[in-house]
Amino acid sequence: MVCLGNICRSPMAEGILSKKTKQNNLNWIVESAGTAEYHVGEAPHHLSQKVSLLHGIDISQQKCRQFKAADMNHFDHIYAMDQSNYANIRKICDTNWNEKKVDLILNELFPFENKEVPDPWYGGEEGFHEVFELLNKACDKIIEKFK
Ligand code: 4NP
Repeated sequence: MVCLGNICRSPMAEGILSKKTKQNNLNWIVESAGTAEYHVGEAPHHLSQKVSLLHGIDISQQKCRQFKAADMNHFDHIYAMDQSNYANIRKICDTNWNEKKVDLILNELFPFENKEVPDPWYGGEEGFHEVFELLNKACDKIIEKFK
C-alpha cells in the first residue's frame, strides 16, 4: 500500500487489509510505504489512527518508511493511492519496474476507471472517514480476488 507520506492513506490501507487477512486466515504479508521521506520513522497521522480505531483497527504501532526499488521484488501486488504515487513508484524502481504488479487501489473497486484516493492531509476529519470507507471497500475486493 503506497501513498506519498505514508502518514494518512496507506497506513489505513495497511491496517484494513491486515485485519481482513487475519479474519480470512490468510498468511499474506501486508505493508505500507510512502514515496517521500518527509515523515520516515513517524507514527500515522492522529486522524488516521482515530478513524481506524473507531473501526476496531489499531495502527498506532506502524512506523513510516519510504518505498524502495527492492519492494518490487518482495511483494506480489503494489497498490498506489493516486496517479502521482504511481508515477513516483515507477521513478524509484527505474529498471526494477514491473508494471504487472502495480495498480491504483481503486481500480479494484471501480475497474479501469483510474480513480484516486483523495489525499486527506490538507482537510479535516471528514476526509479521513471518506478515505477509510473507500479503502475498506477496495480491500474487500482484494480479499475476494486473491484469497
Ligand atoms: P499521505 O498524505 O500521502 O496520504 O500520507 C500526505 C502526508 C504528508 C504530506 C502530504 C500528503 N506532506 O506533504 O507532508
